[in-house]
Amino acid sequence: MTNAVRGVIARAKGEPVEVTTILVPDPGPGEALVTVQACGVCHTDLHYREGGISDDFPFLLGHEAAGVVEAVGPGVTGVAPGDFVILNWRAVCGQCRACKRGRPWYCFATHNAHQKMTLEDGTVLSPALGIGAFVEKTLVADGQCTKVDPAVPPEVAGLLGCGVMAGIGAAINTGAVTRGDSVAVIGCGGVGDAAIAGSYLAGAHTIIAVDVDPQKLEWARQFGATHVINSREADPVTEIQALTGGNGADVVIEAVGRPDTYRQAFYARDLAGTLVQVGVPTPDMHIDLPLIDLFGRGGALKSSWYGDCLPERDFPMLTGLYLQGRLPLEKFVSEIIEPDDVEAAFTKMQTGEVLRSVVKL
Ligand SMILES: NC(=O)c1ccc[n+]([C@@H]2O[C@H](COP(=O)([O-])OP(=O)(O)OC[C@H]3O[C@@H](n4cnc5c(N)ncnc54)[C@H](O)[C@@H]3O)[C@@H](O)[C@H]2O)c1
Ligand SMILES: [Zn+2]
Ligand SMILES: [Zn+2]
Repeated sequence: MTNAVRGVIARAKGEPVEVTTILVPDPGPGEALVTVQACGVCHTDLHYREGGISDDFPFLLGHEAAGVVEAVGPGVTGVAPGDFVILNWRAVCGQCRACKRGRPWYCFATHNAHQKMTLEDGTVLSPALGIGAFVEKTLVADGQCTKVDPAVPPEVAGLLGCGVMAGIGAAINTGAVTRGDSVAVIGCGGVGDAAIAGSYLAGAHTIIAVDVDPQKLEWARQFGATHVINSREADPVTEIQALTGGNGADVVIEAVGRPDTYRQAFYARDLAGTLVQVGVPTPDMHIDLPLIDLFGRGGALKSSWYGDCLPERDFPMLTGLYLQGRLPLEKFVSEIIEPDDVEAAFTKMQTGEVLRSVVKL
């Protein structure tokens, strides 16, 4: 059977998104059909719309979602109809080179289930990050469904499916932030604030938030920032050094995805400190750094893909912390919107009015 449902697509580069009918087949072997309850609007959806990720238009947008498994295909044992799940874009396969080398957080196994969703005229949709969840029902690989406690509201749980996990994981997993560390986070959107929340959970002593928007800096304090810097008004490198005894931060997390902020992150580190790049640049961006500074400053320059998370390990742990009142996930939700409002949510994201707009389906 094919399910005809409403969903949000990006038909062509730079054009406003539209709500249209999507045809979603019933699950085949290894697949699950999920009724999506809520899906956050992530900057990566906008990157797709802008053609910054690939040219495989049309895209079925949305990838930060939670919902209930409606049906599973043959051979699926990990999840069952009725399970409350967060969708993930890293279904650890156990078979690929990364998995077999014991580095499952680098697993990039391809999941083809979702490439079966189409428009009414048969045009195959490319689902954002292999998920596609601004839609009433979506088809994913069974491993993309991570079961969590249904006591967590879907609009909160879904955020762990991308941005919030990416930020927390950038701090805790990739940056290995630990008690007593000094951390600076450049760019305090949903991802950056999650990196702040993760640093706070890990026991960082000094957490410096950097943004160009005073409202964002105000919000950053709610997640644990001990100091804030408006980098339109002051040089963030000098200020971060001043706040860390002249040294620079142990870990600097870049959550914007631009050469100028990467450069700031590079120089704001303590000697042999760690830079974690979580912001996604566009293909035209370049950076020029003196090689002597790369050598002389040492340390680690890392990228964080999805916070180096393992969904089965990290999602239940983080929903557990939320239920204990130790991780204020609800503070990321600025507004609840309809699928028709996604285009407006992109504008609000760009003007800095929201941390996360969450679509209720
Ligand atoms: N690596 C991953 O796995 C992963 C996952 C999700 C999102 N991302 C990326 O993380 C980045 C942030 O995502 P988001 O959803 O938080 O976006 P967002 O638009 O909500 O936040 C970006 C923030 O950066 C600030 N900013 C812009 N220019 C700045 C500058 N020059 N200096 C300091 N701050 C500046 C903005 O004011 C805003 O607060 C995006 O590039 C997104 O694609 C990466
Ligand atoms: Zn794998
Ligand atoms: Zn995302």
